[in-house]
Amino acid sequence: MSMLVTNIGELVTNDPELGPGPLGIVRDAALLVDGDRIGWVGTAAEGRDQAADDVYDVEGRCVVPGFVDSHTHLVFAGDRADEFAARMSGEPYTGGGIARTVAATRAATDDELLANLRRLVTELRSQGTTTVEVKSGYGLDVEQEARLLRIARRVTGETTYLGAHVVPPEYAQRRDEYVALVTGPMLEACAPHARWADVFCEPASPHAFDGDESAAVLGAAAAAGLGLRVHGNQLSAGPGVRLAVEHGAASVDHCTHLSDADVDALAGGTTVATLLPAVEFSTRSPYPPARRLLDAGVTVALATDCNPGSCYSSSMPFVIALAVREMGMTPGEALWAATAGGARALRRDDVGRIGHGARADLALLDAPSHLHLAYRPGVPTAHSL
Ligand code: NIG
Ligand code: FE
Repeated sequence: MSMLVTNIGELVTNDPELGPGPLGIVRDAALLVDGDRIGWVGTAAEGRDQAADDVYDVEGRCVVPGFVDSHTHLVFAGDRADEFAARMSGEPYTGGGIARTVAATRAATDDELLANLRRLVTELRSQGTTTVEVKSGYGLDVEQEARLLRIARRVTGETTYLGAHVVPPEYAQRRDEYVALVTGPMLEACAPHARWADVFCEPASPHAFDGDESAAVLGAAAAAGLGLRVHGNQLSAGPGVRLAVEHGAASVDHCTHLSDADVDALAGGTTVATLLPAVEFSTRSPYPPARRLLDAGVTVALATDCNPGSCYSSSMPFVIALAVREMGMTPGEALWAATAGGARALRRDDVGRIGHGARADLALLDAPSHLHLAYRPGVPTAHSL
């Protein structure tokens, strides 16, 4: 099946060879979808010569690459709205509430977890997201972590083993034993179901992992053949960024508190800095220094971090609006980071762009230009096609 999408007022390709600037914008454009791939991109006038089974006239609307949400925790049960309310009254976020979601998730059936996961995937797709990474991390024992990854695999190939989310309460006095479990039998059980491994590296939280523990997790995961990601520098300027760069992680996520050395390390390495400003919104925290990173030449991605604790939003358009309004990113930088940036954070070149051979993952905006994503915050402008 092929479909010509035509009368696109503004087409954002993220391919500088197709149009000016990093967004590679083509005006009055058309594109050909051939099966699940992009077969051709050009102007609407040129498109008249393209043979296609179907034609979809989008009447001057804007088409952008589907959003790549490279950081979520969508396999869970229950919610923690009460913690959100407490934070809005001044309580800090420490990660302590994760244990509540672990208890609820362990008690849930596979069907319940899958139904909740599918509900959230439908929710994010309806807002323009076409690629989603999903982490485990609310099981925290061998069987439960493997179960959560098997369930995540039902909706995405971008699955991440996060046995090192927090030290579960039953191991609080035996942290070494938990790290041994995460780097041994749990890793062995989970690796077949995961593409990536992640660790919540945060010495400022008594629940998360310090630099040495995190290095052990990353080393073992790499030896097991998994790609690496890190939750780093969320609550303090800890060792997360440095470790991520040293281990060649694809991405270090949060980056809320950064030293100059962290920014230099990111600028000199291959690790993407993934910013999650809906977390700062939902925890009433200062926003990450996006401008410092961009001005230093760091590759920046934007993602939701959708989870029941620190941020229960699945909306990439909301994240883009926050990045523009609160972190000083231009609308173009924010859109690039939410599409091409996310693709780089997942080391993918078939998503996050619209060009020949890319996946036909598109978002249609009920708007004439990508500026409307941040210009009309809270308005349901984007839909995946
Ligand atoms: O990315 N920081 C660690 N983990 C998640 C929050 C998980 C939760 O609070 O349930 C995060 O913010
Ligand atoms: Fe997270």
